[in-house]
Order: sequence, then C-alpha cells, then structure tokens
Amino acid sequence: MEFWHNRWVTEQIGWHRSEVNEMLVKHWSCLNLAPDAEVLVPLCGKSLDMVWLAEQGHKVVGLELVERAVESFFLERNMQPEKVTKGQHVRYKSPPFTVMQGDLFALKTNTFRADAWYDRAAMIALPDASRAAYVDQLRQQTKAGAVGLLITYAYPQHEMDGPPFALHDDDVRRFYAEGFDLEQLEQVELEDERGRGLSSITLSVFKITRT
Ligand SMILES: C[S@@+](CC[C@H](N)C(=O)[O-])C[C@H]1O[C@@H](n2cnc3c(N)ncnc32)[C@H](O)[C@@H]1O
Repeated sequence: MEFWHNRWVTEQIGWHRSEVNEMLVKHWSCLNLAPDAEVLVPLCGKSLDMVWLAEQGHKVVGLELVERAVESFFLERNMQPEKVTKGQHVRYKSPPFTVMQGDLFALKTNTFRADAWYDRAAMIALPDASRAAYVDQLRQQTKAGAVGLLITYAYPQHEMDGPPFALHDDDVRRFYAEGFDLEQLEQVELEDERGRGLSSITLSVFKITRT
C-alpha cells in the first residue's frame, strides 16, 4: 500500500498514458454492451481509458487506493465530484463517473453489480498471491453474465522485478477457470519493448464472461 502512495506522491507513474489504450478501442465492441452499461475499472489510477468508456455512453466506476490519483482525475477535467465516506472508502461521484477511493480488497460484497469490467494494468500490478482474491472481488462486484476485457503482459519474471508482474496466458486460464468463460482475442510479441532488458514480452487480450 505504502508502495503505491509513494509512487503517486513522487509522481513516479510511468504506467499512466496520455492516450487511450489501443487494445481497448480495438476490442471493446466485441463485448456487445448496451451503451448505458455500468463498467467497473479496478485499480483505475487516473486513466484516460475511463473517459473513453464514458464517451461510449457507459457509467464508469473506478476503484483506486490513492486519494491523490482520484483527486487528480477529477481536477484534470475540472469536475467537482460529490464526496461521501462509505465505511473504509470515500465515494467520489460526478456522473457518469464514480470512483471509490480505498482498498479494493476491503470493498463489501455487492457494493456494485456492474455489467462489465475493464482491466488494464490492474491484475498485472498485483503479485501472484493477491490475484485469486482480486478475481473473487470481480465476481462479487459484477452481475452474472458480466463481461470483462483483460489486457496482460508476460515476460520472464526473473528478468525484472515487478510491478508489473508477469501474467502468462496459462495463469489467466487458471485464475478464471471457475465461474468464467475465456476467449483470447489477441496475442502479440512486443519487439520494441525489449529495450527494458527482457528477452521476450508478449501482450495478450482476453474477453472474459462471468457465467
Ligand atoms: C499500475 S497502476 C494502473 C492504473 C490504471 N489502470 C492505468 O492503466 O493507468 C495500478 C493502480 O492501482 C492502484 N492500487 C494498487 N493497489 C490497490 C488496491 N488494493 N486497491 C485499489 N487500488 C489499488 C495504485 O494506486 C495504482 O494507481
């Protein structure tokens, strides 16, 4: 937890992008969502992808630990969200955006019943030991039949300390083995990322359906 606070306070947020994720734009339509669907964005940071999702007509629910990240998201769009304390979380609301600030793992069951979720740099930000609990939270905060888009990176873990932590396709299949259907939409070798000293790095995109 301290780790993420420090990253935001010292502005070491190298994962943050000034453009919308191209895999989101490319694959989102295959989730076949109604425009007014509620979309959960776990570990959302201040991602612009939330703005793109809102532009599709969706209600966007971000989950983010660090207050500074949430404040920045709203400040950068000149929004003054309503702020309400809800147990261990603070709910920021300015439609179509809601962001729950606090620990995702402390969120009570069925706080949300989202139609969909979007995971970019969320599951890969978590160490392997926290990932089963993360998938459990997705199950608890979404409706049966909800669909998700998951973007992952896989690289030899011993070649770099995380986060991001490598998430291999087989591990994705293992974590989502029960209660979910998986469809792999994309797998690409990222030649231009080798500069990080990694011998290989692969990006995968999955469509996940909660059964
Ligand atoms: C690698 S960043 C990715 C942010 C965003 N998904 C993006 O693509 O820009 C991971 C984010 O998760 C947040 N985070 C880490 N642990 C968390 C937790 N337990 N609950 C909620 N948010 C958390 C961090 O503060 C950080 O902003």
